[in-house]
Amino acid sequence: MASENPSAHSGGSITSVLQETRVFPPPAAFAEAAGIKSLDEYQKLWNWANDDNEGFWAEQSKSLDWFKPWDQVLDWQPPFAKWFVGGQLNASYNCVDRHCNGPDKNKAALIWEGEPGERRVLRYQDLQREVGKFANVLKGLGVKKGDVVALYMPMIPELVIAALACARIGAPHTVVFGGFSAESLAGRIQDCKAKVLVTADGGYRRGKIVPLKVHADGAADECPTLTTVVVYKRTGHDIEWNEGRDRWWHELEAEVSADCPPEPVDSEHPLFILYTSGSTGKPKGILHTTAGYLLQTSLSSKWVFDLKPDDTYWCTADVGWVTGHSYLVYGPLAQGATCVMFEGAPNWPDEARFWKIIEDYRVTILYTAPTAIRTFMKWGDQHPRKHDLSSLRLLGTVGEPINPEAWMWYHSVIGGGRCPIVDTWWQTETGAIMIAPIPGATPTIPGSATRPLPGIVPEIVTKDGKPVGDNKGGFLVIKKPWPAMLRTIYGDDDRYKAQYWSDIPGCYFTGDGARRDEHGNYWIMGRVDDVLNVAGHRLSTMEIESALVSHPVVAEAAVVGKPDEVKGQGIAAFVTLETGQAPSEKLRQELRAHVTKEIGALARPDEIHFTDSLPKTRSGKIMRRLLRDIAAGVESTGDTSTLEDLGVLANLRRSEQGED
Ligand code: WT7
Repeated sequence: MASENPSAHSGGSITSVLQETRVFPPPAAFAEAAGIKSLDEYQKLWNWANDDNEGFWAEQSKSLDWFKPWDQVLDWQPPFAKWFVGGQLNASYNCVDRHCNGPDKNKAALIWEGEPGERRVLRYQDLQREVGKFANVLKGLGVKKGDVVALYMPMIPELVIAALACARIGAPHTVVFGGFSAESLAGRIQDCKAKVLVTADGGYRRGKIVPLKVHADGAADECPTLTTVVVYKRTGHDIEWNEGRDRWWHELEAEVSADCPPEPVDSEHPLFILYTSGSTGKPKGILHTTAGYLLQTSLSSKWVFDLKPDDTYWCTADVGWVTGHSYLVYGPLAQGATCVMFEGAPNWPDEARFWKIIEDYRVTILYTAPTAIRTFMKWGDQHPRKHDLSSLRLLGTVGEPINPEAWMWYHSVIGGGRCPIVDTWWQTETGAIMIAPIPGATPTIPGSATRPLPGIVPEIVTKDGKPVGDNKGGFLVIKKPWPAMLRTIYGDDDRYKAQYWSDIPGCYFTGDGARRDEHGNYWIMGRVDDVLNVAGHRLSTMEIESALVSHPVVAEAAVVGKPDEVKGQGIAAFVTLETGQAPSEKLRQELRAHVTKEIGALARPDEIHFTDSLPKTRSGKIMRRLLRDIAAGVESTGDTSTLEDLGVLANLRRSEQGED
């Protein structure tokens, strides 16, 4: 995996990133009021953590509430880490109850807006009551400490409530994004052997109902471990009902008390499993545990978003992704913040929806993805200009490299030139933000995630693990364990070792290529493995290939990313058909629909090229590099000497020019 040149995947925008020289120091007034006020202060924290890693985290751990203090900061048996060994705590207590002991009990925890326009505010004590009730519901269904609960929900407060209810009783949750298909959901439920699935009749997206219950039914039929499906009534439309298996959320809740004492769990008790795509066909269940994850998401929320008691913070990510887990649920709620949560699409009923939300709730911090920013740019300045965005004081981005053009637009049109931008690099596996500016301290540069947070020690290395030095591209690795790191791939320690700790000796390998400049700023160049990043969503080429090949007429398939101005990457598929099958536009549409059914619409190829054969090496490996060049419409400069049949390449190029 680490055998490729890290710059191989760099698109055009990366080149301009490399030449970026504009620097934006923190605005003086911002720095003055900020939690961390200067680069010097940041550097002291980072040095402290670097010199005395365990001492640093020991001190930070005081910011959580513990039922039983820990005995040992770190037990590191590479690559297996245990943090805060011997301690006991509860994540839902830290995110909810501890804010209910004083005046914050009346503070808004969640401000929710549904796509059709409904509004709900849950104060911390409302959240406590709702979480308590649903925790009792789960108990009543026989869910015990350690049992996995699957959540397949729209972006409604009940998703947050259900997640925290699981944490309250020590039942790890696995949230599956509502855009995934029945098949994907079933695969995840089977892998983690969930007993209970929580879903809704539907959710709203662009004025239409997303039929979650239909998909949930499709999945449940294939999952023998699943005994109960709890259904929240969100839309009220007619749904199929399976007596004996399906239960209404509101009926179950009517029977329980709101009082459910939080279960003390060990620091290393599993908090959740979140599936993400790797370079093989099967999604990986990333396992996060309680104390380290909670500590680092909470602290990074404070450091990177400079959270203050009166902030109104809006993370636009769906809770189905790690960003929603860490920065809509656990991090900000552990900090006692007020979080905005929105159910729908940014262009419903029109393209100004986000800006109207910011104006209506006087949002102060906005955290969103570069792909969204590029989409807003395309829609035009007139939409944000219609709304008063003067409440904003800080902007954040996550999920993919941001091109300087989008950064500058975000800065001037949304931020009015006054808001620092925090470009945050991290991964499902890292659990929490790893490299990002501290907004009152770090000068920002369009396209750079800048510096590692205190406690995080990255390096850029060759595939033998040797540091490459300043301004040279290499592989991004993390050298020291960190509290929020994944603990393993659920049920597969060997895959965990092979995937993250084998390519480069002694380090966690991120799968990203990067460069560090002479000032210590990191520039992330993107994935160097077969993982795609499409509109900030992580997808595996192999997974899409498997989906294509599962169609009866497909003989072989190869999937690659191609540069896309808005989505960062688009999906291009090269398909060979079984003998006797003829390519057609109808078949192309059928294959796209097939991928949607197998994985979800987010994995649907943008382009499908039919071809007689795929370029392979003499040993039979598909030469993806060549396919990437073809999909991008650029000449291949690399070596083709191992290609089995050069004619294949010529044919592909011909069909690319519209002759298929
Ligand atoms: C991959 C992780 C982090 C939560 C959302 C995505 C890419 C992430 C950045 C950034 C450049 C970024 C990397 C990483 N990525 N943030 N600020 N700049 N690239 O989590 O789905 O686990 O994907 O997203 O390639 O490896 P994920």
